[in-house]
Amino acid sequence: RKIGICLSGGLSSLALASWLHGGGYDVEAFVLDIGQCPEKDFREFTGAVRAAGIPVHEVDARRTMADAALDVVAFQAHYDGGYWNTTGLSRAVIVERVVPELRRAGAGVLAHGCVGGGNDQRRFERYGAHFAPDLAVFAPWRDPEVLAALPDREAMARHIASAGLVCMPGNTAEHSVDGNLAGTSHEDAGLEDLGTTAAGLERLMGVSPRQAPDRVETVSVTVEHGRPVALDGRRLPPEELLELANTVGGRNGLGLTDVVEHRINGTKCRGVYEAPGMELLSHAVRAAYETVTDRGAADTARFLARQLAVCVYEGTAHGRTARAARAGLAEIAGPADATVRLDLYKGGVVGRALPEIGGGADVLRQRRFTGGGGHNWDSAPLAGPASG
Ligand code: ARG
Repeated sequence: RKIGICLSGGLSSLALASWLHGGGYDVEAFVLDIGQCPEKDFREFTGAVRAAGIPVHEVDARRTMADAALDVVAFQAHYDGGYWNTTGLSRAVIVERVVPELRRAGAGVLAHGCVGGGNDQRRFERYGAHFAPDLAVFAPWRDPEVLAALPDREAMARHIASAGLVCMPGNTAEHSVDGNLAGTSHEDAGLEDLGTTAAGLERLMGVSPRQAPDRVETVSVTVEHGRPVALDGRRLPPEELLELANTVGGRNGLGLTDVVEHRINGTKCRGVYEAPGMELLSHAVRAAYETVTDRGAADTARFLARQLAVCVYEGTAHGRTARAARAGLAEIAGPADATVRLDLYKGGVVGRALPEIGGGADVLRQRRFTGGGGHNWDSAPLAGPASG
């Protein structure tokens, strides 16, 4: 049977593809462009795989990736420690978009390079079962033969070097990077020691707050029904909006989190995450919600967002819980329309203004909320002063 392997650009999937190919298996590589690296590195990566004799299918999935990320921002569905779930999210996108390509190529097996113990193998299995229950999902890092040949990252690095292959930037034997348009996840041998600070970590999507300019940059974000649609008045397609937000957020040091999180299998792990664009846009989304929700809607949204985040993290972003959470959140997001001005400074938002919010800028003074998830507000002016 033909094996289709998803290549992320990281060390382990590449080593595996090369090993399977060398072992005489009928293997074809599927590389999704989800914005994991600059065009130039992408070309170099896929070129080297082709040169090694492995057929490569490229799929442009940037729009799907950006849409998924903007959904998570709109619903404020961050996971433990403010992690924007950028890796978890990408697995749903990859499997959804790779399945039709696998069928076209006549592959009966979906293989991935996710190592044992981690979350990603579970996500591939779950999305495989969701999108293509007829395809077998092969988890090579649970195969004794593969493990014996490539027991650790050093062995993988040696293997790909001898095959003339290259990883996408940032990946070494000690450091694993998983990236896409939405963000970058770092796992690092050194950082597994909780006594080590992540301050020295090299950022791939911007600068650290200390290196950010010593002046405030002001941007405006337009939000419609909870979803960011424009930056500084420029209405852009999702992938361009996210890229621009990454650039602006990144140069101001936004969106770096250092998290000890709950893994799917019940263990903990430490990750360092970059998501400057999602973080930037999210500040505007939050401000928009604050202006239109009553307390019940705000609390419900927080609860549903957490449920959705767990689903995305655990690989059930298309299951019933996630669908129910999205439906509820969409209801609450309905009136969240605003243009929000944000002052960015050294990794944070230090000021914000809401010149235009749904219902008019003087809405807080003029009206009070009467429940109904923020939809119905009483138009009678409040008696007395606006404050308090
Ligand atoms: N712990 C994070 C998650 O499960 C990130 C995983 C990063 N993967 C990687 N190959 N570096 O979503």
